[in-house]
Amino acid sequence: MERLQKVIAHAGFASRRKAEELILEGKVKVNGKIVKELGVKVTPNDKVEVNGIPVEREEPVYFLFYKPRGVISSVSDDKNRKVVTDYFSGIEQRIYPIGRLDYDTSGLLLLTNDGEFANMLMHPSNEIEKVYVVKTKGMPAKEKLRSLERGIRLEDGKTAPATVKLLSFDKRKNSAIIEISIHEGRNRQVRRMFEAIGHPVIKLKRERYGFLTLQGLKAGEIRELTAHEVKQLRVLAQNKK
Ligand code: URA
Repeated sequence: MERLQKVIAHAGFASRRKAEELILEGKVKVNGKIVKELGVKVTPNDKVEVNGIPVEREEPVYFLFYKPRGVISSVSDDKNRKVVTDYFSGIEQRIYPIGRLDYDTSGLLLLTNDGEFANMLMHPSNEIEKVYVVKTKGMPAKEKLRSLERGIRLEDGKTAPATVKLLSFDKRKNSAIIEISIHEGRNRQVRRMFEAIGHPVIKLKRERYGFLTLQGLKAGEIRELTAHEVKQLRVLAQNKK
């Protein structure tokens, strides 16, 4: 189920706000009946019309993208920097990223045009496990890594329990490679967690999202998710509730 204004915006008829205006003005019909309230939700089977013109619902598509560093997790940028959808020039559907990776973070990012699916995966109660490989400045003491596992106080609250594994330490460069697995998706969370223990992140890569990995892809490459993978992600998110 998706909000009516979102379906209209999604189909390219108008911005979300303009879509709300169209609804309030009585220009939108669902299954032949004018709908003037904003809270209404519709299923893919409902027939939506704007000014008598049927709203074409796009075929849902789902992609796994190996985001390189130096790319914005967005569909446009006012400073003209590279955005993730620049890598999808042959795709006609209006896709957008599910969540985001920082400009300087590389790794696994999902994109879709299916708003319901995106919302389900991003909903705080469904947060799917994400595994990051972090290069830190200096070598965090064992106790500091344990504090990340237990949960650490950040300015927006204590983090949920995580799993942390030290993979290697380069004495000469004074940096460590650490794997961290989290279920939350707060803004710059991994960077802030390591900052909080006094070992800022030098490099960050998302290696895994639930059961999905970057296997077979190079930075900048894309593959479509299989129908089975999409289904598995739905099951994974729903079981988290
Ligand atoms: N945590 C971060 O700090 N940055 C990301 O891009 C993803 C998770």
